[in-house]
Amino acid sequence: MSKKAFVVQDKYFLEAKRQGFRARSAFKLLEIQEKFNLIKPGFNILDIGAAPGSFLQVIRKIIWDTGKIVWIDIQKIEKLNFPNIYLIQESIFETEKIVAELEKIWIKQFDLITSDIAPSTTGQSGVDQYRSVELNLAILDVADIFLKKWGNLVLKVFIWEDVDDLVRPIKKRYKTLRRIKPRACRDRSFEEYFVCLNKI
Ligand SMILES: C[S@@+](CC[C@H](N)C(=O)[O-])C[C@H]1O[C@@H](n2cnc3c(N)ncnc32)[C@H](O)[C@@H]1O
Repeated sequence: MSKKAFVVQDKYFLEAKRQGFRARSAFKLLEIQEKFNLIKPGFNILDIGAAPGSFLQVIRKIIWDTGKIVWIDIQKIEKLNFPNIYLIQESIFETEKIVAELEKIWIKQFDLITSDIAPSTTGQSGVDQYRSVELNLAILDVADIFLKKWGNLVLKVFIWEDVDDLVRPIKKRYKTLRRIKPRACRDRSFEEYFVCLNKI
């Protein structure tokens, strides 16, 4: 690891600890929020690939008790004890089970969906990138059902040479696609965030 990469990791890691965030990813969402102002009080928000929960902490700080937040992850997550936060421990590929869980919470559609989902990495960039695409295509399907018209979607994407396989379906579904690499992403990482604005 280069000296510079180590410094970047260290800075955000320490800052996350200092501010009580469960992960450095919090700063990625904060930067996206600063640029696009996507999270608003009163919104119902779905956070996918949510463990350990730092995106959720950011969202909660902005909406407080004014909307509902649902998080989905295959991993068990240490609970955040607020009455407007609901946990669904499922894989994003289990659409029917997710629909059933959402019915119990009385939510049909969300104003915003955020995803920081990442496959467990193998170290082989081609394989990891392919898995990231599969996950993101599944999230697009989920958003087709659960995101309101004109709603916004944030995706984490491992960039690869065939990234158009993901860009094309996004452009069919959303008016605008903006790409951003937040400062808190490690220099050597090939991840970006796709901010998909205004679902058609
Ligand atoms: C980078 S972490 C998310 C960090 C989180 N946003 C935060 O701020 O704390 C990626 C997450 O994606 C989850 N994940 C991977 N595959 C998944 C799947 N098929 N369904 C749901 N979650 C998945 C992993 O379990 C992991 O917790």
